[in-house]
Amino acid sequence: MVKINQRRYLGNKQRLLDFIYKIINSNIKEFNSFCDIFAGTGAVANYFNHSDNKIIINDLLYHNYISHYAFLSNDSFDIIKIDIILNDLNNINIIEESNYFAEHFGDRYFSRQIALKIGAIREKIESLFINQYINFKEKSILITSLIYAIDKIANTVGHYDAYIKKEIKAEKLFLDMLSFSQKNNINNEIFNMNANDLIKNIDCDILYLDPPYNSRQYSDAYHLLENLALWQKPKLFGDAKKFDRANIKSNYNKTSATKVFEDLIKNAKARYILLSYNNMANQGNDRSNARISDENIFRILNSRGKVNIFETDFKEFNTGKIKRENNKERIFFVEVEQ
Ligand SMILES: C[S@@+](CC[C@H](N)C(=O)[O-])C[C@H]1O[C@@H](n2cnc3c(N)ncnc32)[C@H](O)[C@@H]1O
Repeated sequence: MVKINQRRYLGNKQRLLDFIYKIINSNIKEFNSFCDIFAGTGAVANYFNHSDNKIIINDLLYHNYISHYAFLSNDSFDIIKIDIILNDLNNINIIEESNYFAEHFGDRYFSRQIALKIGAIREKIESLFINQYINFKEKSILITSLIYAIDKIANTVGHYDAYIKKEIKAEKLFLDMLSFSQKNNINNEIFNMNANDLIKNIDCDILYLDPPYNSRQYSDAYHLLENLALWQKPKLFGDAKKFDRANIKSNYNKTSATKVFEDLIKNAKARYILLSYNNMANQGNDRSNARISDENIFRILNSRGKVNIFETDFKEFNTGKIKRENNKERIFFVEVEQ
């Protein structure tokens, strides 16, 4: 069974869950709702997901939304049917010589044969959905299982900005059932929006913010998964075979980050705000430098209440090329003045 945290994802907070829990446990008596508005893998929201509270979960990228929908939505699904389909997909009979996925991603991110299989599986999931044999939750479970399966064997360093240019190892693709507890999902709400728009329409006890902090766009790093989840077969460009991502570029990776962060905090309706933002201001190379200065973070958060900072040493998941000293992961904690 596949767990939500068994995926490689830049900036994921899997290893910080205990740290976040301790901060919440010692500073907040009780809470009924927890919003993870830049959720990525969804590992943080999932950690706080219980039957007696509500999780609001959001990400700008559609493939993350699909994954959140699979693991965390309350829609009904037929587990026996899904098991049978997963088995069928694992044993899919490939008759075609080529398909969209094989044509673009074969002999790059995967072997030609595996890419052909991934394309055929994705096409099959789409036709099951169009023919109303599966509902949206079931479709999300199948696509998510496929995403987690390909992450294990992709010929990359963990993201799809580029593929490794050497002979591709023969790998096996295996789609497994997802592990989640539907009884915890009763009250959850799942969105695929720009956080700055969503913030105007929600309120919660705890607002957890984990925005991107440098210039590296998640839509560049995960274009292939986004393409696979959307399955609109767009025209692709360059050696990395990316599609036109203009409408999913994040302002948090641009010089406008401070402005959009200020707008987000101004519109937040929460009792507590927790912000993860690391201390990479002008320490790494240009691409890794933090977009919002500490001075601005303080000023903006301070406008809503007293700010406390909790710090831990944390080895960041990066491609291994850049060595960083004193890379601390920090949580800014604000008890919002009501
Ligand atoms: C640091 S990652 C979050 C990692 C996550 N906490 C985890 O543990 O997997 C930042 C996420 O913010 C998303 N994002 C970037 N800009 C956004 C925006 N304007 N609105 C919503 N999500 C956004 C990215 O797609 C990315 O998944």
